[in-house]
Amino acid sequence: MSCCNVGDQRPDFHDLGKRINPENKRLINCKAVDVNQLMPLKYHWAWEFYLKGCANNWMPTEVSMQRDIEIWKSNRLTADERRMIMRNLGFFSTAESLVGNNIVLAIFRHVTNPEARQYLLRQAFEEAVHTHTFHYIVESLGLDEREVFNMYHEVNSIYEKDEFEMKLTQDIMDPNFSTATDDGIRTFIKNLIGFYVIMEGIFFYSGFVMILSFKNRALMTGIGEQFEYILRDESIHLSFGIELINNIINENPQVWTDEFQQEILELIDHAVELEIAYAQDCLPNGIIGLNVGMFRDYVQYIADRRLVRLGLKPRYGVEESPFPWMAKVMDLKKEKNFFESRVTEYQPLGFESDSAGGGNSSDDWLSS
Ligand SMILES: [Fe+2]
Ligand SMILES: [Fe+2]
Repeated sequence: MSCCNVGDQRPDFHDLGKRINPENKRLINCKAVDVNQLMPLKYHWAWEFYLKGCANNWMPTEVSMQRDIEIWKSNRLTADERRMIMRNLGFFSTAESLVGNNIVLAIFRHVTNPEARQYLLRQAFEEAVHTHTFHYIVESLGLDEREVFNMYHEVNSIYEKDEFEMKLTQDIMDPNFSTATDDGIRTFIKNLIGFYVIMEGIFFYSGFVMILSFKNRALMTGIGEQFEYILRDESIHLSFGIELINNIINENPQVWTDEFQQEILELIDHAVELEIAYAQDCLPNGIIGLNVGMFRDYVQYIADRRLVRLGLKPRYGVEESPFPWMAKVMDLKKEKNFFESRVTEYQPLGFESDSAGGGNSSDDWLSS
């Protein structure tokens, strides 16, 4: 029986036996163009992620940039600190759009399940909000827009990360690409790991540390607050992605060969090196509380955690996060004045471990 319960033929309108049985739903390889038979739900986790995302509405323009503007115009930041902030903005301002592009151009077409598609639509909107955030920051601080938004063409370490991701999108956009074969499913899983686990789960996290370290020092607090919102969104993107990948593998276990797992490990090795090279570029001399060695440890630490969530063995062996304070960032309810003007109580966030890169995988918050 077809997973979407609909063949290519015109349906027999009297055949109620054709009503969808949720047990027959599959994440991929159903009809790409069909009505969205969301209910009955099969993948409750995907629906829960959608609700969670919707509960986290925010807009960058709700955050005051006044203090950031004053600090940026003053002499309170060193040349090294400014360099790091600029390169951070240079990466994020365009990387967010790569994630949005990949959802729309690559993932949505092949994830044919309605529950998952519902979440993808929500996520795509959030990526647009994130891109908007960088527009707002650049405009508020009076930065050179062309410098920031063209940085991936001017800074090699940013270009290399973007190129790594864009190649994965292009693989799926190849007109001959399909998930009808095991090789096709593997290529698709590689794309999902490249974006959810590597881009959003590794590249973005070291970027969060850079900016949030300023907030710890009561500097650039407006950008810091915006990054906290982005981090909250990205934690959910990462958790959804891991769930999606693991469920696709469960439904297609034949693709998860030793050889393919090795390929994934090599992909992550490569990404870890790209991120360390980027940190080196952002922090050639280090700044207060941050240096390249700490980023090497952090990137390897969170990479190990992501591997465990994919059912793979940790690889780098860094057992403690050099930035334990990141664990507290997710506990947004403790933040004084945090968004209190419009949201009185946050949804419970039980996934602090994602921000710290500490603890175990789990998406316990879904059941809490
Ligand atoms: Fe994002
Ligand atoms: Fe994201």
